Parts: sequence; structure tokens; C-alpha cells
Amino acid sequence: MGEHTLRVPMTLHAENRERLRTRLQAHSNAVAHAPGTVVLLQGGDDTTRYSADAEHVFHQETYFHWAFGVLEPGWYGAIDVNTGRTVLFCPRLPEEYATWMGNIVTPDQYRARYQVDEVRYIDEISDVLRGMTGENGTLLTLRGINTDSGKTTLEAGFDGIGRFQVNNAILHDEMAECRVHKTKAELDVLRFAARVSAAAHRAVMCKIRPGMKEYQLEAIFQHHTYYHGGCRHQAYTNICGSGCNAAILHYGHAGAPNARTVGDGDICLFDMGAEYYCYTSDITCSFPANGKFTSDQKIIYNAVLAASRAVMAAVRPGVSWVEMHRLAYRTMLAALKEAGIVTGDLDDMMKVNLGAVFQPHGLGHLLGLDVHDVGGYLEGNPSRPLRAGFRSLRTARTLEEGMVLTIEPGCYFIDHLLNQALANPEQARFLVPNAIERFRGFGGVRIEDDIVVTADGMEDLSGGTIPRTVEEIESLMAEGQQEDVFVPQLHAEQKLGH
Ligand code: GLY
Ligand code: MN
Ligand code: MN
Repeated sequence: MGEHTLRVPMTLHAENRERLRTRLQAHSNAVAHAPGTVVLLQGGDDTTRYSADAEHVFHQETYFHWAFGVLEPGWYGAIDVNTGRTVLFCPRLPEEYATWMGNIVTPDQYRARYQVDEVRYIDEISDVLRGMTGENGTLLTLRGINTDSGKTTLEAGFDGIGRFQVNNAILHDEMAECRVHKTKAELDVLRFAARVSAAAHRAVMCKIRPGMKEYQLEAIFQHHTYYHGGCRHQAYTNICGSGCNAAILHYGHAGAPNARTVGDGDICLFDMGAEYYCYTSDITCSFPANGKFTSDQKIIYNAVLAASRAVMAAVRPGVSWVEMHRLAYRTMLAALKEAGIVTGDLDDMMKVNLGAVFQPHGLGHLLGLDVHDVGGYLEGNPSRPLRAGFRSLRTARTLEEGMVLTIEPGCYFIDHLLNQALANPEQARFLVPNAIERFRGFGGVRIEDDIVVTADGMEDLSGGTIPRTVEEIESLMAEGQQEDVFVPQLHAEQKLGH
């Protein structure tokens, strides 16, 4: 996206294709690597607003992007498992495309751009694929269920596929497993996305003033990531909760569109992540709107920070993610006990799962081309745990080098969860009633970082560019308060254009 952004080499995708071929060649089902076996993927299509012709900004289907890096809609791609020969299929565009959309790129130009063996038109797909499979070869297509959305993957189909042997039972798990482990080239892109988002979060912390709207801070973030980082897409719907909204885990949706006025003395929980070249980031910063933590805000913030740092110190290959979730709960509860918010024996608190009262979500998730990345619950891996909080984990896997995850412990005061716990004698005996009442309406704190598991620990993909301690945050915000910030005061007459 230009000189000030990251140049991504097409070899990133060639390497991904090679990794996929290696896995398929080792597959126990001989169909996966028989002569004439060809992986066939279909890319994403343009979509419009319902029946209207206004198009959404195109976003590539992520398995397709992983394999080919094609940025336009309506393509197919094929890989010969045995030879690695790769053919892309592009739409044959009508002449008038040049009038409305710009010059038509030829297949040869595309071949050079995407660095594949050949680019053909989609209307040639049957003949070209028959040439690749021969009479007896098989097309491997992508069919599987995304364990976060419950939705089925986009499986390739075209007029005439009925004349081919098709196997859709092999490819999904093999590709998803490849996507779980990031290459050096992929890590470079993920680091770039994380650092752009980290810088944008810093800009928000510097520019926030009580009296602003939550969405104005979302706007600062989006501007920063696009203007400075070339990030056209955000990785998910931004969550900009201030005050009591900081306890609404998925705040920011259409029914609650980051529209509250930020108050002096509020805690802010801003979960925002930009995406670059389809690679996502997912970062949460929690801080006081006025730049100075109250003593209660400090207690909760430091409890969550302790959980985050304990997990970061323990993460390495061979460690179970479920154990990391447990460690986060235990560390946070120990800090809450120290502050007099809960009381009793820590082991007993863990037995009644008291952590889930304060942090009902999972500790974190795989991150990559999707913000909740694929491969969390593939066959052969540990299945989803049952207990509250743990069951929200998007994976229960043992960590391996090259996995990219978020670490995002949180502590929230959510009325209905507190009421449930107070009504449950098993849990209520650990809650200190006065302290719990004091924190009702407080909101919450989440600290979310993006990390990669290394051979002997982990690396923070932001490169440590996010202020995390109370002192670091207060110091950055104090600097920011020296800046002149334009706070638009929109009056009703202006909005109406008078
Ligand atoms: N922003 C979504 C998440 O943290 O998982
Ligand atoms: Mn997040
Ligand atoms: Mn997350």
C-alpha cells in the first residue's frame, strides 16, 4: 500500500502452497496425493447492500487469500498436489469494464503479478482442470465448519464440476492446520498490523478528552490505521466502551454504536484492531478517560495486568491453553483477594470457578487471516471444555511454535453475573458484599496483546509499543494532554445543515 507500509512478497503464498502440498503428500488417504489430484479453491465474490447496487468494499475469502494472495473478486485457483503447478482463473471482463473500472489486466499481466504458472479465464476452467487431473484424477475442494461462526466454508463449484471426481473430506482440516502455524513471511505482516494498531491506540490515548463521543475515538483509530498504515479494513467491529459500557463484552454493535459521551472519571475499554493485507490484529487498551487512574481503577487494572503477565511468562511450546486460562483466573483472583474484593481459599475459589464471574470469556484465541483464526478444534485436538469461561475458549490446544494468539484476560462487573453468583451459595461465600456493591457500574478492564509462540517462550507482535503499566499509561496520556486537540462541537443546527 505504498512506501510507508509493508511490501509483501508473493513468495508468502508460494510457501503456503508448498506447506499444503507437503501435508497432503503425507496424508493417510492415498487420494490426497494420487496422480492427477488437484486442490481447487474458489475465491470470494463482490457483494452488494441487499438488492441495491452499492457494493461493499471487497474482502477476499481467507483460505483463498492464504493460498494465492489474489485481491480481486470472482477468481478460482488450482494446485497440482504432485507437481505444485498452480493455475489461477480470472473472470473474462466485458470491454465496457475499461470504461467504468479502468484498464483490463490481461492473464499474462496477472501471471506476473501473482507469480503462478498460468492464469486462464474462468470460462476455460473445465478444460484446463481436465488437463490437470487427466481422466482419473480428483479435485480436492474445501468443505468444513468454522468452529467460531458455525458456518460452512465456501466450497468451489462451477458449471461442469459434475463431470469430475470430487473429494471434499480431506482438504479442510489440512489447510486449517497449515494456517495455525505462521511462517516468517506471515509473521512480518502480522507484526506490521499489530504495530500499526498499537500506534493508533497510542494516538487515541493522547487525544482522548472527557466530553468526546466514543465514536470520535473510534474515528481517530480508524484514521490512524488507514492514513499511516494503509489498513483499509478493520479486523472486527471496534469496541469503544466507556464507563459502564466497558463491561459490555461486544459493545459497539449496531444497537450500541459507540455513541456514549465519555465522562471524566470513566474507565475506557477500547478493543480495536486493524487489518493489513488480510492479516489481522486484535488489541485492547484499558485506561482512565482523564489520564489518571483512581485507586479502584488501579486495583482492577493491576489484577488484569498480573494475569496477563503471568500467562506471558508461562507461554511456550507444550503448554496447554486451558491451563493458561486457569492461570489467568488464579492470578486475577489472588489480586482481587489482596484488594478485599473476594475472600477465602484460592483453591476453593478455583473449584467453584469463581473466575468466570469476573471474566466470562476465554483467555484468547488463534489470530491470523481471521481475527478468530481457524484450526481451534480440529479433529484429534482437545475438545471444547464445558465449564463457564473455559467453554468460550476458541481453542483448547497445546501450544506449538509458530502459533499466533491473543492473550486477553479481563475483569468486568456485570450485574447479572454478580447477581447469579450472589444467589449461588457455592460462589457467594467468596464475594465480599460491600466491595462488590462498590464496583457495580464500574465497567471493566481488558488487556489484549497479540503474540507468537517461539521455541522457548513468546514474542509480543507489537514489539512492546503499547503502554501497559499504570505508570506508562499515565505518562503517555499526560504527554497527550499537552497537545492541542480539536474537539468538534456539533450543534443541532449544523447537523441539519442550517
Ligand atoms: N475483538 C474480539 C476479540 O477480542 O476476540
Ligand atoms: Mn479484541
Ligand atoms: Mn481477541
